[in-house]
Amino acid sequence: MKLVLAPMEGLTDPIMRDVLTHVGSFDWCVTEFIRVTDSVLPDHVYHNYCPELLNDGKTAAGTPVHVQFLGNNPEMLAANAIRAVELGAPAIDMNFGCPAKTVNRHRGGSVLLDEPEVVHMLVKAVRDAVPSHIPVSAKMRLGYMDRNFTLENAHAIEDAGAAWVTVHARTKAEGYTPPAFWDQLQPIREALKINVIANGEIWTNTDAKQCQLESGCEDLMIGRAAVTTPDITQCIRKNTDEPIITWDELLDLQIRFLNGPYKKEINMVGRYKQWLGMMSKHYPEAKELWNEVKRIKALIEIIEKLNVLKP
Ligand SMILES: Cc1cc2nc3c(=O)[nH]c(=O)nc-3n(C[C@H](O)[C@H](O)[C@H](O)COP(=O)(O)O)c2cc1C
Repeated sequence: MKLVLAPMEGLTDPIMRDVLTHVGSFDWCVTEFIRVTDSVLPDHVYHNYCPELLNDGKTAAGTPVHVQFLGNNPEMLAANAIRAVELGAPAIDMNFGCPAKTVNRHRGGSVLLDEPEVVHMLVKAVRDAVPSHIPVSAKMRLGYMDRNFTLENAHAIEDAGAAWVTVHARTKAEGYTPPAFWDQLQPIREALKINVIANGEIWTNTDAKQCQLESGCEDLMIGRAAVTTPDITQCIRKNTDEPIITWDELLDLQIRFLNGPYKKEINMVGRYKQWLGMMSKHYPEAKELWNEVKRIKALIEIIEKLNVLKP
């Protein structure tokens, strides 16, 4: 069973990937999407999105990081994929799931699911461009406004030479509103020869097992739950819904996060509070801590508070 950390713009950035792969047992992660328009991006952009490129394409814990692109220009996607691989990307993923209005207005992300032939052309352009030992994959939703082209898109991705496809089991129109339609992945899995990785609304080990049952997919991509419950991969692998890491261990993780590299202190503090807010749904201690730190603006003060809480 492969467990993959989902790309989440503004959430699974390099610092969060470092922390989550430090504690969790992910097989690989995927960067936040890198938007490609009409140029080959400079190296510093790649190193911003994926500093792991300077570490053999892996997080400090040794988990490979795949580089994700979003765009609709085949030549530029191909040229950027070549550059990413030259810089050390172990695999390339292509985004056909983003629901953001601005992205879709520029014909990027999930809107392309209405044009399976374009999906095919873009994946093929990248597949043909990068060396054959570098896997190229794609991430799609069930469709844009409807599910009319689900199988066409899946076939388009497979026929273009993708090594696997990850499917978020909802259309763009269904957004992030539960449920995710895991059973809708079954026909895709049956139709394709390549692997299908299931994604969407897996919050617990029980969800993971139910998703595997309904979808027939063994491999799973986990998004928000990895942030709210950083031990979710261990729970799934050990087949338990009981917490595996303690709150004290989570405090260490938070300190690791807060010691990560940042450009602006205010952004780092904001990111930490965002994470604490998400963990509050699951851990009562996080809720208490949130009330204590919500007005603090200095990073060092938060770190001191966490150190005091440690046994
Ligand atoms: C804040 C946020 C940002 C996201 N950014 C991306 C992205 O950059 N690329 C992508 O393919 N999917 C992105 N997604 C979608 C997730 O990868 C995933 O498909 C979705 O959250 C469903 O999985 P989950 O229920 O396990 O969270 C994003 C989701 C969220 C919540």
